[in-house]
Amino acid sequence: MPRTAMSLHAAAVGVHQGMVYVNPHPNPPEPFDAWIAGLDEHAWPHRLDDGSMRFAGELCYEMRCNWKVFYENAVDGYHLGYLHDRTLGKLRPHNNVWRRVGRHAMWYSTERDGPPQASSILTAQLADGAGAQRLPGHETPNYPGVVMLFPLTVFSPNPWGFYISVIEPTGPETTTLRTLSWVPEGFWGRVFAGGDEGEVVRLEELKEHPLESGNFQIEDMWICEKIQRNLHSPRFAVGPMANGPGAESPVMHFQQSVLAYLQGQLGDRMAAG
Ligand SMILES: [Fe+2]
Repeated sequence: MPRTAMSLHAAAVGVHQGMVYVNPHPNPPEPFDAWIAGLDEHAWPHRLDDGSMRFAGELCYEMRCNWKVFYENAVDGYHLGYLHDRTLGKLRPHNNVWRRVGRHAMWYSTERDGPPQASSILTAQLADGAGAQRLPGHETPNYPGVVMLFPLTVFSPNPWGFYISVIEPTGPETTTLRTLSWVPEGFWGRVFAGGDEGEVVRLEELKEHPLESGNFQIEDMWICEKIQRNLHSPRFAVGPMANGPGAESPVMHFQQSVLAYLQGQLGDRMAAG
């Protein structure tokens, strides 16, 4: 049947490691193979199609901040040690690192001797201590713990499961983070990522202070909403940045990626018209 008869719009599709990626732009300026290039060097072993994991639900975080505020904070290695010291550990710029892959970024903990790992020492202690089940063969997870796929997709592969988050810009100052969880097949305990299936998290509805939540995502919401409010201050200014792949250099990389993307879009429009 002709596509137009079904009222379907054309889209671009790509497949990588068993995952299907759909881009609503039928002819994206950057082809899928170029967009995904370099990811294999940071491959994680999780597969959604081999029966090793089961889908464990969806959780939404409704945040009052622009999506770029959330993204900047997510790739900032500098804030980990003081904002997440009780949830992720006292990670300083020298013991965490963001690796650049094109416009994407991959996070590793470098706290331990040997190759970098997906989880911080504290995360491993908390997850194992809470009875979360490890996937077989994940004793030394030498893959990234956070995969930021520019611009709106976040993967979190770790020994206790696999999480896919979609950053949905819903307004100039609102963003929804939609997180889908997979856990080891046969595990029916509480999902370590926190929250109940279908739950929508909003800061104003929390019963405790965000820093008492024990959930690093809620800690991030708290700081992102503060930053968004700060942007309105007449005294707001961009200050010096802490250089380094475990500090604020990933923020610069992200902003350069946004700029390059927008310049590409602008170039296309000028060429078209
Ligand atoms: Fe954070």
